Amino acid sequence: MANMTNTVLVTGGAGFIGSNFVMHWVKSVGSAVVNLDLLTYAGNPENLETLEGDSRHIFVHGDICDAELVGSLLLKHRPKAIVHFAAESHVDRSILEPGAFVRTNVLGTFAMLQQAKQYWLTLHADEKHAFRFLHVSTDEVYGSLGLDDAAFSEVTAYAPNSPYAASKAASDHFARAYFHTYGLPVLMSNCSNNYGPYQFPEKLIPLMILNALEGKPLPVYGDGSNVRDWLYVEDHCSAIRAVLERGVVGESYNIGGNSERKNLDVVQTICDLVDELRPDASLGKRRKLITFVTDRPGHDLRYAIDTRKINRELDWKPALAFNEGLRKTVAWYLERAAWIKNVRSGAYRDWIQKNYQERASK
Ligand code: NAD
Ligand code: TYD
Repeated sequence: MANMTNTVLVTGGAGFIGSNFVMHWVKSVGSAVVNLDLLTYAGNPENLETLEGDSRHIFVHGDICDAELVGSLLLKHRPKAIVHFAAESHVDRSILEPGAFVRTNVLGTFAMLQQAKQYWLTLHADEKHAFRFLHVSTDEVYGSLGLDDAAFSEVTAYAPNSPYAASKAASDHFARAYFHTYGLPVLMSNCSNNYGPYQFPEKLIPLMILNALEGKPLPVYGDGSNVRDWLYVEDHCSAIRAVLERGVVGESYNIGGNSERKNLDVVQTICDLVDELRPDASLGKRRKLITFVTDRPGHDLRYAIDTRKINRELDWKPALAFNEGLRKTVAWYLERAAWIKNVRSGAYRDWIQKNYQERASK
């Protein structure tokens, strides 16, 4: 039997966080990455352009639900770890089309765990000990906080409110069960809202940057008082590395940016940054574009993360302050006309039409 290699199998590595992680890994760790991605609307090979021609990045176009494919990739590449990002990730889509979330997030994670277990059982004792399955999840599994509630910790009870959060919660429970029942060396991380380069412009921050740039309405759900805790994507990548390298198997780690902001404040700051970096006299101040629209059904009021465990046990903390990260992010999108044009294909336009046409301005 061949030995385990230094290769890492990443799922969903053509998406937002996955592509940032693959680039981070190849550049700073340097071992090979097998990147399994179905290239759904959210997956984009252009995100990985900087790795073109780099033999350390092996891209495989395929589905995490395809157990045979996953099993054969594991036997062929014999990775020392799996970092599992692949998911349907957008709450609004989960409200309109929940079935895809059950399939990918629940059944896909189950297929990954099952194939990982089969492969892990073939390893030598010392390799079995060293192998890791890192399941990447979200703080949304904990439900919603009141404005004065204590932040989510690793022992907060699960209370998912959206179909997205419910599907991620189910996948977390399977990951935990595979450790508890079979001893598979599973690690779990639950992170707050990410932002930064390569995020698909259906999510709040990139959507608002592009609409502000183009002088389109900025659709704020409800009254804009919902609070999210924002983390720059590079900081999420460094946290995942810390969990992978120093985390205790069977444990979960909450990851956050200690940067709680009301949505309206985020959107106003984006307007000011776009005004500063791309002034447009014909538009005037972009804040005028803010439009309050019908709220998201079941909209969670607040997410906040207690990062003390990962800080204390793995010596991790975010490097970038929110204002600095947001400025970098706005500047990144303003310089990426070709990338933006390509991701806003026909399918993107259909989604914008579907999600926003019913949300009349209030
Ligand atoms: P994303 O939607 O940008 O990317 C998802 C990727 O998964 C895409 O490349 C897509 O093609 C791929 N994918 C989807 N279905 C697949 C399938 N069946 N087989 C193989 N690949 C498939 O998502 P993201 O924002 O990068 O999030 C990545 C992970 O991090 C998700 O598990 C998400 O729940 C979690 N997370 C995201 C955030 C956030 O703010 N974006 C915060 C915390 C946790
Ligand atoms: P989003 O980026 O979809 O992340 P999540 O729902 O996973 O937190 O949304 C972030 C916040 O922004 C959330 O409170 C919903 C709100 N929002 C808007 O107000 N308008 C929009 O057009 C979008 C996409 C989101």
